[in-house]
Amino acid sequence: MAKIDLSTALGELELSNPVLTASGTCGFGQELASEFQLSELGGLIVKGITVEPSTGNPPPRIVETPAGIINSIGLENPGIANFKKEQLPWLARQETKILANISGHSIADFAKLAAELKDEPGITGLEINVSCPNIGEGGLAFGTDPAMVYEVTSKVAKNYPGWIMVKLTPVVSDIEAVAQAAKEGGAKSLAVANTLPALDIDLKRQKPELGNIYGGLSGPAIRPVALKLVYQLAAADILPILGVGGIMTGEDAVKFLLAGAKAIAVGTATLLDPQAALKIKEGIADYLAHHNYSSLQEIIGKAQQ
Ligand SMILES: Cc1cc2nc3c(=O)[nH]c(=O)nc-3n(C[C@H](O)[C@H](O)[C@H](O)COP(=O)(O)O)c2cc1C
Repeated sequence: MAKIDLSTALGELELSNPVLTASGTCGFGQELASEFQLSELGGLIVKGITVEPSTGNPPPRIVETPAGIINSIGLENPGIANFKKEQLPWLARQETKILANISGHSIADFAKLAAELKDEPGITGLEINVSCPNIGEGGLAFGTDPAMVYEVTSKVAKNYPGWIMVKLTPVVSDIEAVAQAAKEGGAKSLAVANTLPALDIDLKRQKPELGNIYGGLSGPAIRPVALKLVYQLAAADILPILGVGGIMTGEDAVKFLLAGAKAIAVGTATLLDPQAALKIKEGIADYLAHHNYSSLQEIIGKAQQ
């Protein structure tokens, strides 16, 4: 069988294949590297980094739902200084694209993180998380307002001359306006989308399941929501799209590519099976082979009218 060309690109960011790992579901990559060669991935998006170290939200922080999980990790992370000292040297040696996911409680936080990362050759680009549903200040509040998205993105772009992607929340009335604001602020790509705010209640304790009360729903339950937003934004042709949300199999991934995503990220699936990203990549190749395609590019956006 002839080899299928899986290469793709998110604007100027060239990828050997369309499968990335989604932020927060693969840590800083070390555990994943014991499962498979990271060079198998198109890229790895590291867990969200903030200016200061954060212990995250009180436990319990994950609860299962019928078709996914609700998490309220709350951006537990070592902070930018420790990330640079302890994680980056190892990440820089990996043969895949490394994207840093940055989060903040203020616009100044985002700007500082961008400045801290601008001279780090181990980082290929930034993913700006303006859509975290479970941190108190900032988080989702930024991502729902186009003016704030413009403000955050342009401040990051000013301090970081490289490639920037903005990760959108699915919970907005006009996602195209938010996407446009990200573009005007200097983003080169959009990650679509983050988790949906959600709640579950423990019947025994008669209290919310999560220590933080609310969390973010991910997994198969959100796939049709994310797929709709990817399709809509691809039709609007604003920026290249990374599709994220409930991708568990190669066939799920193909749906996002047919909708117009140039690449996809695997999140919750990795928590269930650390080899999920690899299997999803193989599943995409199998679909292409089965339908007699010789390159991934032939199917991107094919479901668009
Ligand atoms: C445990 C967990 C932690 C996450 N942490 C982050 C994070 O730090 N930054 C971020 O932008 N998204 C974070 N996300 C969101 C995922 O990157 C992804 O957008 C979302 O889970 C939807 O994809 P999925 O259904 O494939 O998991 C997290 C998701 C989970 C489940």
